[in-house]
Amino acid sequence: MFVSVVLFAALANPAPADTGAVLYAKWCSSCHGADGRGVSKTMTRLEVPAADLANCRISSAEPEEQWTGIVRDGGEAYGLSLDMPSFGDGASADQITWVVRYLKSLCTDPAWPPGELNFPRAVYSEKAFPENEVVLVAEGREQSLIYERRIGPRFQLEGVVRTVLDGGDVFGGITAAAKYNLWHSLPRLMIASVGLELTPALGRQAEWEIEPFLSFGANPGGVTPVQAEVLATIEDGFAGATVNFGAGREIGRFVPMLEASWAIPRVGPQELTLAPQLWVQLSRLGHVAASIGIEVPVAGPSRDARLVAFVLWDFADGALTAGW
Ligand code: HEC
Repeated sequence: MFVSVVLFAALANPAPADTGAVLYAKWCSSCHGADGRGVSKTMTRLEVPAADLANCRISSAEPEEQWTGIVRDGGEAYGLSLDMPSFGDGASADQITWVVRYLKSLCTDPAWPPGELNFPRAVYSEKAFPENEVVLVAEGREQSLIYERRIGPRFQLEGVVRTVLDGGDVFGGITAAAKYNLWHSLPRLMIASVGLELTPALGRQAEWEIEPFLSFGANPGGVTPVQAEVLATIEDGFAGATVNFGAGREIGRFVPMLEASWAIPRVGPQELTLAPQLWVQLSRLGHVAASIGIEVPVAGPSRDARLVAFVLWDFADGALTAGW
């Protein structure tokens, strides 16, 4: 009832000047507040309080395309609240773009990397985008549980617990990591970050290991995410380097990718591994995704091919049960 009244009022009175701000005031401010920061629940009777759209943390997290889709098709199409109406029938595509750009402009801090640079997670190449995520990874008989947490616009902390199911000790070890987004550019669709991983001598890890890394992502053309990482391993001195590189193609909810990992130890043979993989967006909201692939050693010590897979949940985007 409330929604239809708002919609009727909005669509029956076309904006005098079609600027994003004017359209916003007419169509959206009753629920999202004059400043985009929401309206007290008692005034709107919304079941789910409307999000604070002026908050950089929220507005930078998703690409413009996602917000355009939510405004065009309504909250329900993305597994969000039915209270978020769809404007696709009454508003033109341009008007929706203007109003979304106006909303995005309410975040004025350029330090937050935009969601357009949050490329699908690859198996090897550490993502440059800072994340709020829980990831479960399986590589052959090894499993890892990863917890990633953003701090402020550019920083991310990470904790990993590893297990191995091969008949030996189950506890594989732990790793702590930090990542910092050095640079990003929306017009160039590029992002670069640095980080450090620290693995103590615990479980199956015989020696302390320190691994500084540099990670890079780009998306030429907007549909071919390319990601790369260079990592050095320090274990009682410099032990070697690893170069990971992958490229994919976005096809709707699917992103087939091909990744290569080249291990260059200081002593011993080098190793090249290829991993064709398929990333899939599982939830309509896009906060739950999975990937499955196969790791094929192509050069270096002979090893069997093994299955690699992960499932991830972006917990800042929505509850695990929401967004389907
Ligand atoms: C009738 C109330 C109502 C109106 C009018 C309304 N919204 Fe919403 N909107 C909501 C609610 C409630 C949510 C939260 C949905 C959820 O989290 O499940 C929402 C969510 C959103 C989101 C998603 C935020 C996120 O977390 O990613 C965007 C973007 C948005 N609204 C934009 C708009 C724009 C732009 C307009 C005007 C063209 C508008 N809304 C009008 C109620 C409304």
